[in-house]
Amino acid sequence: MRFQVADRVPVPEHVPPELVHDFDFLDPPGASDDVQLAWKRLHDEAPDIFWTPRNGGHWIATRGEDIREIQTNHRRFSQRVMTIPASAQVFRILPANADPPEHDGYRRIIMPAFLPKAIARLEDGIRAQARELVEQIAPSGSCEFIDDFARKLPIIAFLKVVDLPLDDREMLVSLADTIMHGADRKRAEEAQAGMLAYMTRWIEERRAHPGNDLISTVVHARIGDRPLSSEEILSLVRLILFGGLDTLTSLMGFIWRFLATHPDHCSELARHPELRRNAVEELIRRHGVVNTARYITEDCVYKGVAFRSGDMIQIPNSLFGLDERITPDPLTVDFHRPHPQHVAFGNGPHTCPGALLARREIAISLDAWLDLIPEFGLAPGTRPELHSGASNNGILRLDLLWNTASV
Ligand code: HEM
Repeated sequence: MRFQVADRVPVPEHVPPELVHDFDFLDPPGASDDVQLAWKRLHDEAPDIFWTPRNGGHWIATRGEDIREIQTNHRRFSQRVMTIPASAQVFRILPANADPPEHDGYRRIIMPAFLPKAIARLEDGIRAQARELVEQIAPSGSCEFIDDFARKLPIIAFLKVVDLPLDDREMLVSLADTIMHGADRKRAEEAQAGMLAYMTRWIEERRAHPGNDLISTVVHARIGDRPLSSEEILSLVRLILFGGLDTLTSLMGFIWRFLATHPDHCSELARHPELRRNAVEELIRRHGVVNTARYITEDCVYKGVAFRSGDMIQIPNSLFGLDERITPDPLTVDFHRPHPQHVAFGNGPHTCPGALLARREIAISLDAWLDLIPEFGLAPGTRPELHSGASNNGILRLDLLWNTASV
């Protein structure tokens, strides 16, 4: 559910007036046209690090150099709270909310499932599923890309990582959708309870009958000489499920929207599969999805800005890729750009473990899609639905159209 607390609050005394800029991350001007561009305007309109009185009042760091520093300095910028406002954090989410060194133990448990060898073993299955989805969609000449493709593939990949039945796919897509986007609080809570019951059932099943999958690994793991508590197990499984859903769905939505509106880029990718690896990085750089945040642990001064212990600071990962101090002409997508630089998957010890899987899912989807649907555009009279949120830039609807003669 989206959190709505955008009213202004009084600016605290330690924040000087020249560092105050009114920015509501839930509704930046222009977000419905190009949400990343809406954030990018901060580079021209606000100080590099500023305080906004919206959403409980918090700092925002807009430049790549500062985002990188704040992502990796856990002593000063802790992950124990990552929501804005801080009061919106209801669960302790592991491993994300644990700082090093406590974080190391959790990370060691889940990492083997995301290593290149483990992902390589999943690839044929994901490729077959992606192909099947596109084959179902292609003959009709149109689709709503988010529901018909981008929400389905990440769930399929998650089910493969944890070795759960693919038949549960539709039910999980619907629960996840209600939890993350449902406007009705009661239905969202029921969906939460449904998801919890589903995960608990499989945790108990794998406790009794361990397999070679990530839930079994987590259930039977030890940190030092102790087993994990039920809360720790559930928390790890929950993030592995949710960490890769909305993020990947939205990123794919932004990429397909870009290709639908840039026919020359689309045709270049369709004709030159060898460009796709670099193109994926460049498209990720231009279309960042995550707006993460940190809790400031001590009074300190950084680049002349005085922070107070307990302040929250937002570090929109997408702004790193769009910073012209790092990438020249950053709004232009150029598949030939050498080494596109971004921090879409974070930095340091908390770097997204699912990054390789996410990259492979995008590349596999591009292969399957461009093979059968090499040209496509936005359906006339429709408008993609974009939004900016507390943790994600998202795209909720994308209507596409193509000529079935080429299918
Ligand atoms: C496009 C897709 C994805 C994006 C953009 C993304 C982005 C991120 C980012 C930025 C972080 C670090 C958060 C921070 O620094 O505050 C993170 C952490 C994490 N992600 Fe992803 N992610 C994606 C896909 C996935 C997938 C597919 C999975 C698992 C199947 C996953 C699981 C996780 C987990 C478990 C963490 C916590 C890691 C830790 O705290 O050590 N993510 N992700």
